[in-house]
Amino acid sequence: MDHPDFTEPLLAWGVPRLRDLPWRNTRDRWSVLVSEVMAQQTQVSRVVPKYAAFMQRFPTPVACAEAPLADLLTLWSGLGYPRRCKHLHDAARAIMQLHDGQVPDSLDALLALPGIGPYTARAVLAFADERDVAVVDTNVARVLSRVVNAPLTARASQELADRVLPEGQAWEWNQVLMDFGARVCVARNPNCNECPIRRHCAWNAGPDPAHASALTSKPQPRFEGSDRQARGLLMKALAERGVRRVDVARVMKLSDDSKRATRLLQSLVRDGLVEIRGDWCRLP
Ligand code: ADE
Repeated sequence: MDHPDFTEPLLAWGVPRLRDLPWRNTRDRWSVLVSEVMAQQTQVSRVVPKYAAFMQRFPTPVACAEAPLADLLTLWSGLGYPRRCKHLHDAARAIMQLHDGQVPDSLDALLALPGIGPYTARAVLAFADERDVAVVDTNVARVLSRVVNAPLTARASQELADRVLPEGQAWEWNQVLMDFGARVCVARNPNCNECPIRRHCAWNAGPDPAHASALTSKPQPRFEGSDRQARGLLMKALAERGVRRVDVARVMKLSDDSKRATRLLQSLVRDGLVEIRGDWCRLP
């Protein structure tokens, strides 16, 4: 399987259809890093305005590292999963201290940064430096597992992705795979009728092999009434103002369960996302 037959038809289909996204017009490593951290768990349409605002305010790792985390979190408000934002801040500080303010260009150095995993590290190299590395996120893992009609471990997904990577075209290939997974080969009700590689795909009927794959996303738990929602309500309030400790349960809409509110507040403090000073909570 040196040059599997699905890469060419998929590239031919996908390159002219690539979405025009702001981070696809840059080869700046920091810009790519920010966009990939934002886009990993959040819809692209919600990322676009936040990415623009973030890059305007923090155009370099040093600008980001020198700002208080509270400024980043305020800008992040509404994107969700704020631990990503703290990780990005920690990474910016490490980049300033260890790499002279330049995002490193080796896989090992990227992987050693706080909060940067195999996906993000490779995305920086593929999308900023156009290096021949394969990026595997949930969308890519799902596509690969369906093409071979087998569940894949994380390692098997990466190995297969490495093997099928068309040399010299990693930038286009990885972006096409992502768009294809986001728009055609979607998790539920994939659009197989319009699939440009249906003749090359081993999955036709039968159970979806992606369901049992390691990197593919499992169904999202309900947001309404979740811990994530309650934490988000407090983070949103704190982006606008300080909140008194005695008001935390009400802000989280947990007035009838102050024990749970306290537990969630403590988890935010532990994650370094909230500070308590006397009677008040605020962003760090
Ligand atoms: N999601 C994560 N990375 C992305 C990218 N580069 N383009 C589109 N969606 C993405």
